[in-house]
Amino acid sequence: MRSKTIRLDFRSDTVTRPTPQMRAAMAAAEVGDDVLGDDFTVKALETRLAAMFGKEAGLLLPTGTMANLAAIMCHCQRGEEYLCGNEAHTYLWEAGGAAVLGSVQPQPLPVRADGTIRIGDLHAAVKADDPHFAVTRLVTIENTFVGRILRPEYQDEVVGFARDRGLATHLDGARVFNAAVGLGVDVGRLAKGFDSVSVCLSKGLGAPLGSVLVGKAALIARARRWRKMLGGGMRQAGIVAAAGLHALDHHVERLAEDHANARALADGFSGTKGLTVTPPQSNMVFVDLAPDLATRLSEALPDRGIAASFWPGGRMRWVTHLDVDRVAVDEAIAAVREVAESRR
Ligand SMILES: Cc1ncc(COP(=O)(O)O)c(C=O)c1O
Repeated sequence: MRSKTIRLDFRSDTVTRPTPQMRAAMAAAEVGDDVLGDDFTVKALETRLAAMFGKEAGLLLPTGTMANLAAIMCHCQRGEEYLCGNEAHTYLWEAGGAAVLGSVQPQPLPVRADGTIRIGDLHAAVKADDPHFAVTRLVTIENTFVGRILRPEYQDEVVGFARDRGLATHLDGARVFNAAVGLGVDVGRLAKGFDSVSVCLSKGLGAPLGSVLVGKAALIARARRWRKMLGGGMRQAGIVAAAGLHALDHHVERLAEDHANARALADGFSGTKGLTVTPPQSNMVFVDLAPDLATRLSEALPDRGIAASFWPGGRMRWVTHLDVDRVAVDEAIAAVREVAESRR
């Protein structure tokens, strides 16, 4: 529990509250028991997202973590492995779920500054057919990746590599709509060639929860069984799906505003003494700074009702979203400048 009242929360795009219109859509949703296959609002969301991503079927899950885990468990058997970036959500931020619950080993690989893994490194990481080794079965990438947008041509190279080596492909598309809006391409383009894609409704799209996994009908049928086993079968889930449908209607194009606000934050911070800003590509701004300045900011900003994320060693992250507008951005810039430029 935060002890101070935070008005402007830049920690993550997961902090958004559903808008009154989204809440109204949720309240009005037609619902049924989705585990029994009776919830038509859920089916509408799953069908719509599958079509948008050029896939046969979709499955609503409570979280992105569960969607990624179910996908990995569909692609890999016990004792097999998946290739991923060493900062990937599927490796670093999912509590080791694939290893613990799937008995599937991650093979993390270095990620370059632009968020890509070298195709040569992917090739080199595929294990030989030797009983000493886990069987390499899957490659997963993420777009956006820690705020960076991967280009469709790079994704094609990863898909080409996987085809050459007989591997399956999974795209962690928690923020794939940010990538699509940033690139000015259709989300279907970013799903091209992938066997499965997980899409979060609860990040930039502003829904309170929910992720949808899309892929071939047979894969989604297997994922439905894993979802049940993982405890993720939800009953009157149309309430959640209605928020997702509302988000698809109203919160996709506006992601461009979040990206513009991230650029405004970055510009505002750039002129400030002691801050080294990485130009943002989507809705995340990373700033390197001396550890003592980071401590001062992390202590002073909450007093002004502002929150950002701080990492040890002097790094902070600011994420723009539905609940922070340009006025909030300007206030944040002014507060950061004031603290950074004040004498101790
Ligand atoms: C890239 C990425 N993938 C997956 C997830 C998992 O989503 P959830 O928090 O809904 O489990 C996140 C969460 O922040 C994420 O950033």
